[in-house]
Amino acid sequence: MNILLFGKGGQVGWELQRSLSVLGCVTALDHDSTDYCGDFANPTGIADTVRALRPDVIVNAAAHTAVDKAESEPEFARTLNATTPGVLAEEAARLGAWLVHYSTDYVFDGSGNRPWRETDPTAPLSVYGRTKLEGEQLIQQSGAKHLIFRTSWVYAARGGNFAKTMLRLAQERERLTVIDDQWGAPTGADLLADVTAHALRQLQQRPEDAGLYHLVAGGETNWHLYAKYVLAQAQQASSAIKIKAMEVAPVSTSAFPTPATRPHNSRLDTSKLQSTFGLTLPHWQQGVARMLTEIL
Ligand SMILES: NC(=O)c1ccc[n+]([C@@H]2O[C@H](COP(=O)([O-])OP(=O)(O)OC[C@H]3O[C@@H](n4cnc5c(N)ncnc54)[C@H](OP(=O)(O)O)[C@@H]3O)[C@@H](O)[C@H]2O)c1
Repeated sequence: MNILLFGKGGQVGWELQRSLSVLGCVTALDHDSTDYCGDFANPTGIADTVRALRPDVIVNAAAHTAVDKAESEPEFARTLNATTPGVLAEEAARLGAWLVHYSTDYVFDGSGNRPWRETDPTAPLSVYGRTKLEGEQLIQQSGAKHLIFRTSWVYAARGGNFAKTMLRLAQERERLTVIDDQWGAPTGADLLADVTAHALRQLQQRPEDAGLYHLVAGGETNWHLYAKYVLAQAQQASSAIKIKAMEVAPVSTSAFPTPATRPHNSRLDTSKLQSTFGLTLPHWQQGVARMLTEIL
């Protein structure tokens, strides 16, 4: 199987380089790749890359993920999150190739407290959410064989992440304040990459399982409880970490105004994915504990 991966250096892209390698030959590109265009700001260049490489599977881990910055550069965000994924889908349809794409809980308005299902109405609150939704729709309308995974709160051991920020702040400050009214499930980039590989393999036998799936780790939390879990794990695991913060206080989202509005309820119902692919999604604490073991 020839696989073309875009966004190879991102959290998910990096893990996909590992997980997809057992499925075949992977050509992995980033926006500054030189052999072939991997720059999503250049939709024509991306189409040329697909036409030149003629992959069996295209996996798109590239995106404009700077949620707040997207509010001030909506056209650029739209190109990266919607226009170019749409072009990829047209090229995939022409080739008969599979397209795998990632989307987000930000397509929902975050109301209520029930986990969102794939069939629930979307109503994004931000430029990021709107452009990611448009990307989904262009792929769905293209006629390409596709998998779209909506996920949330992605972290990886590599690069910066929420847990690392909390660990740093807790060593610098005596009191931390963390939002407690946004709910979701921290999801490891490694889990997303592994599930992608499993799903792609199943699709070779069962192409009818194509479509849109919610994919997040099990359980639920809010940022405040997530921070407390990280600090407790760090204290247990490493005597080198000197936590100064005696108090981690819960605050509402309004305490930290941001350009982009975040959904309060980012819970995603994963039953469709688990039953279709016969997979179990481990509890979020399992993946976060593992990531902390790697970084501490
Ligand atoms: N992060 C989250 O919490 C989250 C939550 C829900 C859904 N998702 C979705 O999951 C997918 C993967 O996200 P992630 O967390 O891995 O994001 P990430 O770490 O920010 O990676 C995004 C990737 O896109 C690349 N990129 C940026 N501008 C580009 C351009 N002009 N052309 C080509 N590539 C470009 C980045 O390259 P450089 O680093 O070189 O700029 C990077 O490799 C995305 O579709 C995202 O929308 C993420």
